[in-house]
Amino acid sequence: MITLFEPHKPAPVDEDLLTSSSGTAQLSVAAVENDFVAAVYEKLASVYDLAFGPTLQPGRIRALKHMGIADGERVLEVGVGTGINLPLYPKACAVTGIDFSSSMLEKARDRVARMGLRNFRLLQMDAADLKFADGSFDIVYAPYLISVVPDPVKVACEMRRVCRPGGRIIFLNHFLSPNPMVSRVERSISPFTIHIGFKADLDLPAFLAQADLQPVSIEKVNVPRIWSLVTCVKD
Ligand SMILES: C[S@@+](CC[C@H](N)C(=O)[O-])C[C@H]1O[C@@H](n2cnc3c(N)ncnc32)[C@H](O)[C@@H]1O
Repeated sequence: MITLFEPHKPAPVDEDLLTSSSGTAQLSVAAVENDFVAAVYEKLASVYDLAFGPTLQPGRIRALKHMGIADGERVLEVGVGTGINLPLYPKACAVTGIDFSSSMLEKARDRVARMGLRNFRLLQMDAADLKFADGSFDIVYAPYLISVVPDPVKVACEMRRVCRPGGRIIFLNHFLSPNPMVSRVERSISPFTIHIGFKADLDLPAFLAQADLQPVSIEKVNVPRIWSLVTCVKD
C-alpha cells in the first residue's frame, strides 16, 4: 500500500500524483452518455454477478476491511448495482445504495429480501445528481463505478458534497496504467470495453486533480493488481 499522507489529516497535494498537466489532461479516449451506459447495464444485470463477481471480489472485501466502518456510521454506496457488496457491510451501520439501472436495482432488492438483510435502503438515482443534502454521509464509496460514468469529475464533486467534513470518499476502480506500453493498450481497447460497461483508461492523477481531491492512501487490489483502492478525506 502507498500511504501518501497521514490518514484523516489535512494533506498537501502530492506532486507525483498531481502533475502540472493533470489539471487539463483528457481523462479517457472513450466518451459515453448516460443512455448508453444505462442500456449496457440493463443487458448486463442478469449476468453481472457471474461475469464481474469473483474476479473483483478481493477488492470489494479489502475495501470494506480498510474502511473499518464504525457502529452507526452512514454509508452511501454509489453504483450499488446488484447489491453484491451489501452482505459485506457490518450490521450496525446504515447503508444507502443508489443506482440508475432499474434492472441492477431489482437484483439488489432480490438479494436484500433473499438474504434477509437489514439496514439498507436502495434508491434509483443518477450519481451525477445526488438527491441528498450536503454532508449527509460519513463515508461515500464508489466501487467499480467511476470509470463507468460519462463525467467522473461531476460524480466525484457530488460524492464530496454529500460527504460530511472529515468523512471519507472512496473509489475502488481500475485506472490507466503508469506504464507507457500498457497504457497504450488500455487506451486502444477503451472504445471497446465501454460496450461491456467500463472505460479501461481513466487517468487517476488527472481525475484527482480535476476533482480537487487529495488521496490519503492508494492500495493496489485484485489479481492482477491493476485495480486501486483510493481513499480521500473531505476537508
Ligand atoms: C460496474 S457496476 C458496479 C456494481 C457494484 N458496485 C460492484 O461492486 O460490482 C457499475 C454500476 O454503476 C451503475 N451506474 C452507471 N452509471 C451510473 C450513474 N450515472 N448513476 C448511478 N449509477 C450508475 C450501473 O448501473 C452499474 O450498476
